[in-house]
Amino acid sequence: MQHRITLALVALLFVWTAGAYNNGVARTPPMGWNSWNHFGCNTELLTEDLFMEMAAAMAKNGMKDVGYEYINLDDCWLAKTRDANGRIQPDPTRFPHGIQALADYVHSLGLKFGIYEDTGRLTCGGYPGSQGYYALDVSSYLEWGVDYVKLDGCYSNVSDMHAIYTLNSQLLNQTGRPMVFSCSWPTYANLQGYETPYTYVASICNLWREWYDVRDTWESWTAIIDYQEYANLNQYAGPGNWNDPDMLEIGNGGQTNIEYQSLFSIWSILAAPLIAGNDLRNMTSETLAILTAPEVIAVNQDALGIQGTRVVKMDYLEVWARELSGNTFAVALFNRGNETESITANWTDVGLEANVTADVRDLWARSDLGSFTGSFTAKVVSHGIVMVKLSPK
Ligand code: GLA
Repeated sequence: MQHRITLALVALLFVWTAGAYNNGVARTPPMGWNSWNHFGCNTELLTEDLFMEMAAAMAKNGMKDVGYEYINLDDCWLAKTRDANGRIQPDPTRFPHGIQALADYVHSLGLKFGIYEDTGRLTCGGYPGSQGYYALDVSSYLEWGVDYVKLDGCYSNVSDMHAIYTLNSQLLNQTGRPMVFSCSWPTYANLQGYETPYTYVASICNLWREWYDVRDTWESWTAIIDYQEYANLNQYAGPGNWNDPDMLEIGNGGQTNIEYQSLFSIWSILAAPLIAGNDLRNMTSETLAILTAPEVIAVNQDALGIQGTRVVKMDYLEVWARELSGNTFAVALFNRGNETESITANWTDVGLEANVTADVRDLWARSDLGSFTGSFTAKVVSHGIVMVKLSPK
């Protein structure tokens, strides 16, 4: 009870002082890598060596050059108990040099370091959660040099999350060290039938999960983007605040490269965090080419931070559009059907006048397609996307 009253008081104080969340970081969607999608809770593999190898791979395979920077632990890095002083600690056999040494190594490569914890008594995987230790755990993040905190919500009541996420946001801010704050509150709220106060969430979190965990299937990620559209989540995004449709599955083997290319295109239109979830030490050149496509990433990272939306849905044929800096627009022609189809984007669907002439550039092929007035049409293969940039003259 006392725990709850304290939380409520802290939350109230914070609301009085909070505006839009701006801790100086994640002004564009965060880019990085996280262990969960490929390695899950496989404790045989989740060792400090694994994370160091991922960091080394990212630093030299071209990913760092195009903007990837975070190396993030997910669940199952912890020892099963806290130390004698109540502090969280990594599993000592798998992380013998401790978290600070790992963070130092990641930083030495010019990258940043992220961590996973949970608001409840336990993490989703059954490791010690942060409940009852929020301030102490944030002090550990500070001591270790953490740059990104994913705070999950297993084993917590949704009705307590307003207070808990507020408190953690405040604690992180008070450290003076900019740490990206990734919240899971909307996921738990939405899936348990609560209303999510998105505007408020955006005032305390840099990014927030809102739907089921992604899996490496076409059905999984298309359902997530349909939820984002249904709930009109684009209005809550902006520099420092991002809807998180979950991490990337590109390169994990469950989909075709055409489907992975479509996924990456939509994540870019949605201004979604680009957190790779494959084995960076061992990927095909096609996987690397998708993850590092410079002109698609430029859409994702556009400085205006306006999240795009689906502007046309004709059964299984869709047009998605995102306004970019310099009065330009990213447009994706998306074929969710089973045959190759022609898809047309009318300028009026995208937000331009019909009489405008625009230069059209293919962002995957990285080639100029010429000038078009009023509309652009392309043939799109099944489950594929043609993604272009319109530059009105
Ligand atoms: C939840 C999260 C996932 C992952 C797992 C770890 O399901 O949504 O992203 O962090 O927990 O247990």
